[in-house]
Amino acid sequence: MITDDFDYLAPGGRSYTLAAGQLARLKKSSRVLEIACGRGEAACALAEAFKCRVDAFDIDPVMVEYSMKKAEKLGLGEYTNFFVKDGRDMDFGEGKYDLILAEGGALTYIGREEGIAHSADLLKEGRCLALTDLIYLRDDVPQPVRDAYEEGVCSYLTEIRYRKLLEAYDFEIMFASMLPQSAWDRYYAQMRRQVMSPKNKFTRAFKDSMMREIDVYYNYGGMFSIGYFYAVARLSRKKRVKPAGEGLRIPLAFSYSG
Ligand SMILES: C[S@@+](CC[C@H](N)C(=O)[O-])C[C@H]1O[C@@H](n2cnc3c(N)ncnc32)[C@H](O)[C@@H]1O
Repeated sequence: MITDDFDYLAPGGRSYTLAAGQLARLKKSSRVLEIACGRGEAACALAEAFKCRVDAFDIDPVMVEYSMKKAEKLGLGEYTNFFVKDGRDMDFGEGKYDLILAEGGALTYIGREEGIAHSADLLKEGRCLALTDLIYLRDDVPQPVRDAYEEGVCSYLTEIRYRKLLEAYDFEIMFASMLPQSAWDRYYAQMRRQVMSPKNKFTRAFKDSMMREIDVYYNYGGMFSIGYFYAVARLSRKKRVKPAGEGLRIPLAFSYSG
């Protein structure tokens, strides 16, 4: 269920992770790499469902420790390998994974183009990269919305540009969709609860930026400019990928005379 309150740190959730595992046809002998695993929820979901081997890393040692403890508690220690790593430096060798999972904006954090290029090197031919990431729904995103989401650090693509970037590295999109409103509502409700709770030791800067983002999303039109993109794409070096079109844009205000 999309609105289930799992330990994900982004819109999305277990149903997207498991769908990626199904599309990638994971089995016991499969190998998965998760980039920026956060609290290890997706890695554990795949290990539990497919009994496959999951390597998962995050730059934050606190996240990695949390994930390891969770996997042990769930009896998934033998299937999972969590480690601290900066995704901008993925030096694992080539062509050994069946699925690379980059949820919750992982590719944006590590550098989208480099992340996709590295993923292509790390995957076996014909195997999958699955991602969820923030995108812009339009080119003319209002400045207050850009400021809240980019924070002077990140930049975002539109869907069509994301598709073209994947295709530029020989990925063929098997399935793509936008996450529904309920995914944002679940995520922001959970983040708001966590940020407000005295039990959680978030920095003042993080609390302020999260509350600003939520405010902009609901009260300043953010939801009309921001979307979350889910894509499962197969590495198809041997096939010619049909390039994505330029996109369809139907004007919202038009006169209908019928
Ligand atoms: C929004 S959270 C998403 C976590 C998880 N994928 C999920 O969907 O719940 C982003 C994660 O990216 C990690 N991260 C940020 N920059 C990174 C980097 N350069 N290398 C590896 N992880 C990074 C953060 O520590 C954080 O856990």
